[in-house]
Amino acid sequence: EDDLLSKLPLRNKTILITAGPTYEPIDPVRFIGNRSTGKMGFDIAEEAASKGAQVILISGPSSFNVKMKNITLVRVETAEEMYKACHQFFDKVDVAIASAAVADYKPKNVESQKIKKKDATLTLELEKTKDILASLGQVKKNQFLIGFALETENEIEHAKQKIEKKNLDLIVLNSLNDKGAGFGHPTNKVTFIDKLGTIEPMDLKSKEEVAIDIINKIITHYNA
Ligand code: CTP
Ligand code: CA
Repeated sequence: EDDLLSKLPLRNKTILITAGPTYEPIDPVRFIGNRSTGKMGFDIAEEAASKGAQVILISGPSSFNVKMKNITLVRVETAEEMYKACHQFFDKVDVAIASAAVADYKPKNVESQKIKKKDATLTLELEKTKDILASLGQVKKNQFLIGFALETENEIEHAKQKIEKKNLDLIVLNSLNDKGAGFGHPTNKVTFIDKLGTIEPMDLKSKEEVAIDIINKIITHYNA
């Protein structure tokens, strides 16, 4: 068994993964969220762990759980909490993969009491959250940094802009256009784009298979 372990390709690597949605509170009983289930991130975590990596999985609210002992699950709720947890671990990891569907905006003021029903309309003022992935790109040293991109138009161009803006090594472009891909679907249609501009379109696959493809990219990177 010792021999088997020593042959696993990611045995001496630590991988940080973000997963799931974030919940941004409006008042004590309400929040702004999204339909991410966390499945993609949890699948990547399992695949990385099965290849021998030490995994730190930082997840927003999700019904998924982890069984493998080399996955440490850190549960968070808001983008701010996810930001803090990521920066707590980032300098000790070799790879970071941002698969979380982080809210782009949060309520500017969180009401301390439940908002009462009053006028015919209600306006919430929102402010930008921190871009977690871009902030990791800014402090990156030798880490291999992987982001996701969800685009509905000019997909390749927009994804390439995200590689530049966030200082990424690789981006996983997620296409919503194709039938049966994305949030709440068991399948994803992804295209890999690296920082040199190499474009690799993949077939429509299950999220487990996409997770395998992503982990193989990392293994190839360290064997190159
Ligand atoms: N991301 C992040 N923190 C945020 C927003 C996004 O870490 N506050 C990460 C996501 O986890 C993903 C990547 O950035 O890996 C791209 O997310 P996406 O929503 O596609 O892009 P944005 O930069 O948020 O831009 P936009 O939504 O306007 O396309
Ligand atoms: Ca976004």
